[in-house]
Amino acid sequence: MFDRVTYINIAKLYTLKGGVRIKEALDDCAIIQDAYMTVIDDKIAAVGKMDDLKLTDEEVIDLDGKIVIPGLIDAHSHLVFYGDRTNEYALKIKGASYMDIYALGGGIHATVRATRAASFKELYDKARATLEVFMHHGVTTIEAKSGYGLDKCTELRQLRVAKKLDEDLPIDIVKTFMPGHALYKDYKNAKEYFDMIIKDVLPIVVKEDLAEYMDCFLEKGVFDVDESRYILEAGKRSGLKIKIHVDEIEDIGGVDLGVELAATSLEHLMVTDETNMDKMKEAGITAVILPATSFNLRKPFANVQKMKEKGLIIALSCDYNPGSSPCNDPILMARIASRGLSLTPNEVLSMMTINSAKALDREGIIGSLEPHKQADFVIMDARSFDEVIADLGQDHVEAVYKKGVRVC
Ligand code: NIG
Ligand code: FE
Repeated sequence: MFDRVTYINIAKLYTLKGGVRIKEALDDCAIIQDAYMTVIDDKIAAVGKMDDLKLTDEEVIDLDGKIVIPGLIDAHSHLVFYGDRTNEYALKIKGASYMDIYALGGGIHATVRATRAASFKELYDKARATLEVFMHHGVTTIEAKSGYGLDKCTELRQLRVAKKLDEDLPIDIVKTFMPGHALYKDYKNAKEYFDMIIKDVLPIVVKEDLAEYMDCFLEKGVFDVDESRYILEAGKRSGLKIKIHVDEIEDIGGVDLGVELAATSLEHLMVTDETNMDKMKEAGITAVILPATSFNLRKPFANVQKMKEKGLIIALSCDYNPGSSPCNDPILMARIASRGLSLTPNEVLSMMTINSAKALDREGIIGSLEPHKQADFVIMDARSFDEVIADLGQDHVEAVYKKGVRVC
């Protein structure tokens, strides 16, 4: 017996039908005005105009002029960590740079100390509370990176926490192994550290299915191109797909490495120039842009208008982490993105749904509301998504559904 539900009187159904969006198509969310949507079990069965609806004996839910969008997809997060870096905030406001704080043993290192000292349960409870907030704001799929352990047990603990949360909560979690987030003082150099990771940790990550991707922070003063290649190639040989943090502060050749390794996505891209954009376009690599990080670090935004002009596939995500972007509210991130990157609400929505699905290789199952896709959707108490973005504080999320089931 199928569980069949039809949602009726939807003022605007943002279907995002038609696949990944680039250029002008970003502004077209394939909206059906005055719409219905039928869900059978965990899948979308039909969408259309109210005038064409023929009801059978299914359950009917009247949305009375509200809007429906696909479940939001956050393709870049550092979800599992412990500790608090609020003390860095005033330093930053007084002028200390991200790299000044990192060089003083703060930044990522401070979080590594706290994360190593935390139990599985402490990490689990903290990340679970964070996920509840993400879900409340409409996120139904999220990526989660390790990288605050930087040793065998803690990297594995972070990934096992993410795996358990994926099993326990309705939100889907895409796991990324990121041992190359920083070099901690217990290793002399990157080679020594990565050799330990390759020998002692990577085989367990693969055996326990703890990650789908590998990522690395390729940045001046962190890992250079050769060091990043060393660990990422090992990940690739073990079957992991590649994402790389590149061009966040300086361009030291990260895009070329991404092309060489056929990365799924390159992320941050705050200083990426036109030549590198062309290379990404040519290689079909998705650009994951993190506007809350630029805003929080008070740095220039990535040149998204140029990326758009060049036809890159662009996704937007929060980059949730305790330092550069303590943001677990995708709607706040979207409001910042629209204003900071000069994007319309429709463009922002395309980048947070179907294009973010592409950044996770899942555009065939999530990111749009059309028959056979997973029934991940958000009901918003607004007349349009423009209203949601034009506001700077109101919470419009009324209900969140994952695989057809209401979760918030
Ligand atoms: O994506 N850039 C590197 N990693 C994080 C920041 C991590 C931190 O500050 O703890 C980021 O911005
Ligand atoms: Fe990040």
